[in-house]
Amino acid sequence: MQLPHWNRLADHAKQLRDIHLRELFDNDPQRFDKFSITSNPLLVDYSKNRITEETRSLLVELAREAELEAWRDKMFAGEIINNTEQRAVLHTALRNPASSQVSTEVERELAHMEALCERLQNGQWLGYNNSPITDIIVIGIGGSYLGPKLACEALKSYAADNISIHFVANIDAHVLDDVLTRVSAESTLFVVISKSFSTQETTENALTAANWIRRQSGNESCIEKQFVAITSNSDAARKFGIADENILSMWDWVGGRYSLWSTVGFPIALLIGMNNFRELLAGAYSMDEHFKTATLENNIPVILGLVGIWYINFLNFPHHAVLPYDHRLRSLPAYLQQLDMESNGKSVTRYGKEIDYITGPILFGEAGTNGQHAFHQLLHQGELIVPCDFIGFANAKHQYSHHHQILLANMLAQSQAMMAGRTHQETHDLLISQGESPQRAAELAPHMTFPGNRPSNTILAETLSPTTLGALLAMYEHKIFVQGIIWNINSFDQMGVELGKTLTSKLLPELCGETSEDNEDSSTKELIHFLRRYTD
Ligand code: F6P
Repeated sequence: MQLPHWNRLADHAKQLRDIHLRELFDNDPQRFDKFSITSNPLLVDYSKNRITEETRSLLVELAREAELEAWRDKMFAGEIINNTEQRAVLHTALRNPASSQVSTEVERELAHMEALCERLQNGQWLGYNNSPITDIIVIGIGGSYLGPKLACEALKSYAADNISIHFVANIDAHVLDDVLTRVSAESTLFVVISKSFSTQETTENALTAANWIRRQSGNESCIEKQFVAITSNSDAARKFGIADENILSMWDWVGGRYSLWSTVGFPIALLIGMNNFRELLAGAYSMDEHFKTATLENNIPVILGLVGIWYINFLNFPHHAVLPYDHRLRSLPAYLQQLDMESNGKSVTRYGKEIDYITGPILFGEAGTNGQHAFHQLLHQGELIVPCDFIGFANAKHQYSHHHQILLANMLAQSQAMMAGRTHQETHDLLISQGESPQRAAELAPHMTFPGNRPSNTILAETLSPTTLGALLAMYEHKIFVQGIIWNINSFDQMGVELGKTLTSKLLPELCGETSEDNEDSSTKELIHFLRRYTD
């Protein structure tokens, strides 16, 4: 890494190695004020991180050296920053009502979406035997699945209750089969989302679904009536049999994992209504404005991105746990896995030169409190240090307020336990106070000691609304962008997913016994033999 502040940060990391978060809090009662940012509707507390004001200054200087602000402005201006695919990166324009770059096309598609939503909400969308639609099956994968699914789950309380939505992504037909057994053909709408309309999982699932409904209805018009496509390859959708008025366009300047703001968000709009969908866009837009205008020191995505780099590259903590204390955000870790790992899991610079530093964390997570009874043991006492994001909302959308208070108390307890820990002496004294003998206390204390000094951010909002969700997701998008700029990589392509696809096409006929597997490596060959031997 060429940036001068990279080396300064490496030196600074050595100085900070022995500092404990507990000490940082004890020495500075103002720590929260110094290390927290509010940008409506989010409060981001990053005080429980192993950083000082000097760390933050050095990191911000690193961002300046990487010309972060110039790159950010290039993205918003629609310059071709996805250099390998020669594309602009303009998902932010989708949520900017005044965007000069793309407003006419975007407004046209939003109006199209709105008309389709109204047709459904007014009960005018009828199946092949004139039954009103009651179920929607969304078929898509990756960015054509994770965002809509997350938002539909998160905002379910905004949905009309006469519509059920189901998602099918995996080629594993246990998913499709299960969903098809739960709906009736005459009242089901299929929404096929695929930017390319050539992704194997999506085209196969869509074909199987189409054959199923054909069989059930005995009527070819069911495809025209009950299939919608969202794609930038409308020719392929037409060829599939989908009616022109049911094809929504998307654009090559929107990457799959950044696409829920586009027509890919159609299932969200169908479920929660167009006004709420626009609120989602407005929430993301407010974060865009914050990212564009706040100083680097007070800029939520910039700070989160830089703190992430501090851990990955300087303290050697290459994992990141996302822990939403809200069941409605249970799919957020999966969504962020694609957003982060597909964007920044790279090993050459944007100009193709090999790099000698880690990019992109291993991201995982689980909704609280479930994770506490699974992997939090490692987070508290394991040798690996895993920085965490805790996410919570002051209000819930159910009537059991005591449950919600317990949930939030758990969240606060986890971040506090990770930060402060419990020393050996404290643990020993506690055991004695609980009546243990000195010998037993000495035996148990090492096992019950918590080292603490485990970093986390806490992200809070008043309520989980479309606006809050929009701001939260845009915050993560920009955080990942910031990191990609510092690492000097192209965060907007995903060439690493291609080799597997190519090999699948070669192996499928071998597995089916149509071509010879003789030239495969011995492992693959024998695995094929086993599978063929036992295939029904
Ligand atoms: O997994 C690779 C990928 O290209 C993702 O980036 C994308 O979100 C997903 O496949 C689905 O692509 P499509 O929308 O073209 O079906």
